[in-house]
Amino acid sequence: MTVKRSVVRGVGGYLPQRVVTNQEISGLVETSDKWIVQRTGIRERHVAAKGETTSDLGIAAARAALKNANLEADAVDLIVLATSTPDQTFPATAVTIQAELGITRGAAFDVQAVCSGFVYAIATADKYLRDGDFRCALVIGAETFSRILDWTDRSTCVLFGDGAGAVVLEAIEQPGTREDRGVLTTKLRSDGRYRSKLYVDGGPSSTQTVGHLRMEGREVFRYAISMVTDVIDAAFSATGYGPNDIDWFVPHQANKRIIDGSAHKLGIAPQKVVTTVDRHANTSAASIPLALAEAVEDGRIRPGHLVLIEAMGGGFTWASALIRW
Ligand code: UT7
Repeated sequence: MTVKRSVVRGVGGYLPQRVVTNQEISGLVETSDKWIVQRTGIRERHVAAKGETTSDLGIAAARAALKNANLEADAVDLIVLATSTPDQTFPATAVTIQAELGITRGAAFDVQAVCSGFVYAIATADKYLRDGDFRCALVIGAETFSRILDWTDRSTCVLFGDGAGAVVLEAIEQPGTREDRGVLTTKLRSDGRYRSKLYVDGGPSSTQTVGHLRMEGREVFRYAISMVTDVIDAAFSATGYGPNDIDWFVPHQANKRIIDGSAHKLGIAPQKVVTTVDRHANTSAASIPLALAEAVEDGRIRPGHLVLIEAMGGGFTWASALIRW
């Protein structure tokens, strides 16, 4: 019996032009390239230009994904944007992207799950596509974290970067076998008891300001690997796949030590891990689609490959998805 699945038709990424090295940041705060590389694996990050907004980055990534899918924008009837750094408090940044792409039908909205946002957005779009409400979705992760960083706080400002990535998902009937292409499972989790470990100290209803990112890094680190492996084990249980079946592991890019530790704990071979954190730093919801775009562009991820994505971040939220490309 055939099954409707959300199949990846294309992927694209966009990074702002300006590259900020660890060396440059060590001129702003008391830090060093050595400390940042040793503790995080980060060497540089991209930072949006003055006036360059989250929607600008998201539109560029969406256009790249549509081009890669060989589709025109009018094929799209759903836009789900994962972001914690919207252009405005409202309307959703997704509707700005919708308008700039010239799309006047369907629906566009934002999803807020911080670094797990892209996986949440994939899960959301997947449900609507499989239910038949929409046929073709742009799922975007776009962030300008440079705007909410406290550039005097060395414990956070060295860790993040700006960027955007997007995938085009299309509802396509699949044979209903183990070879089915598309999103095979998504697993979402959150636990608000940890919300003060990683947060922004402002907002419309509390301070009427945008606020700055605050994080107890060591605490986040403490939970990251076990939370990530929890949702990946759940994805394996749901599908019957295991670490040896995975062609590519594309984790959220926060810290090389967390990525390596998770892969090791799960038994995923290091050569199957896609890593961009060294050049992008942590771009929150954009990090996974940016890494996917890079690995598709350079020919690593190919149709038929089994791709595992996962993320953990503010909330805490954590999530995974298994996708056959
Ligand atoms: O997307 C999810 C979001 N976030 C994360 O996943 C981040 C998770 N956490 C981490 O990646 C790590 O905890 C950090 C990279 C943030 C920090 O690494 P750590 O090994 O946990 O270091 P630490 O926080 O325990 O700090 C060690 C020392 C401290 O000094 P003392 O107290 O030992 O004297 C810090 O003050 O390093 C100091 N430190 C720095 N030194 C130089 C903190 N930031 C810096 C810095 N440069 N930028």
